[in-house]
Amino acid sequence: MKEAMQTTLSNKATTEGSRMKIGTGDNMKSKIALVTGASSGIGKATAERLATAGYKVYGTSRRGAQAGAQSFEVLALDVTSDESVEAAVRELMRREGRIDLLVNNAGFSVAPSGAEESSIEQARAIFETNFFGIVRMTRSVAPQMRRQGSGRIINIGSVFGFLPMPFMALYAATKHAVEGYSESLDHELRTRGIRVSVIEPANTNTRFDANLLQPDAKLDEYREIRAALAKQMEALVESGDKPSLVAETVLNAARAARPKLRYPVGRGVALSRMRRFVPAGMFDKSFRKQFQLDGHVNTPITKQPTVKNSAP
Ligand SMILES: NC(=O)c1ccc[n+]([C@@H]2O[C@H](COP(=O)([O-])OP(=O)(O)OC[C@H]3O[C@@H](n4cnc5c(N)ncnc54)[C@H](OP(=O)(O)O)[C@@H]3O)[C@@H](O)[C@H]2O)c1
Repeated sequence: MKEAMQTTLSNKATTEGSRMKIGTGDNMKSKIALVTGASSGIGKATAERLATAGYKVYGTSRRGAQAGAQSFEVLALDVTSDESVEAAVRELMRREGRIDLLVNNAGFSVAPSGAEESSIEQARAIFETNFFGIVRMTRSVAPQMRRQGSGRIINIGSVFGFLPMPFMALYAATKHAVEGYSESLDHELRTRGIRVSVIEPANTNTRFDANLLQPDAKLDEYREIRAALAKQMEALVESGDKPSLVAETVLNAARAARPKLRYPVGRGVALSRMRRFVPAGMFDKSFRKQFQLDGHVNTPITKQPTVKNSAP
């Protein structure tokens, strides 16, 4: 009861204190947004875009605030730690008393390699950030959003949340998990005024490839494939969509009166359509042909796949 009263009082104070516009020309009252993994790439672009649009933004990084000017506040956060998540959300509540938008962006991948080249520990580690990180953050902010009777949760998925990705099986598995979790959660929370969406970028030009974790159980069997795919991955990320395109999509989803569940981005739009409308058998055949998966066991994939079927 006491906690509820304190929350109500601090909500009132914060809401009244934040009635001024802090954006440029978007004519909105400042809403409070929290963006995980805002030190680079998609998270940074999203935090900056939301700030320009008038949100008061808290971005996070495991390293906390870095030197240099930022258009948003920075909180230290490791999404794999319960304590760290609780501390960051507690600090946000202490400062603002409410949260209107959570963007779950923090994530990484194991470098392209055979699925069997990652130990169970490594498989758990990627799920710990890409999936359980989202679960932790959601569990931490949902009670406050329920008290408010409003809120938006936007999860950064991937086209590999609806497409298979051979040699990035664990990453694809985490992003498929994000899709299932998000859709289910959206149904649960809708009557509480909370909506959940997934953003589905294709390959995007960020530090994603520089932050790939090397597989920890390498097999000679896949040595050549790994080398060929590493080059291909680098080229794909470099030629990818701009992170600002993803950021714009996040903003659109956050502002939509009736948000959609899924927002494919850039090249992801065509891939999403293809996945929905091409019959499964035809998709399977064309996918294997495109990635040259048949006929040459252990021959590395050397051709750059066309945009249609390839993206992280
Ligand atoms: N780039 C692509 O082609 C692409 C395509 C589709 C989807 N995505 C998704 O987009 C998201 C962002 O990736 P990006 O491409 O922008 O990569 P990035 O430039 O490597 O950024 C990753 C961010 O995640 C943060 N992070 C990593 N582990 C974390 C942890 N345990 N706790 C908190 N923060 C953590 C990093 O922050 P610190 O290191 O500062 O903590 C960094 O800010 C990921 O979910 C990724 O799967 C990327």
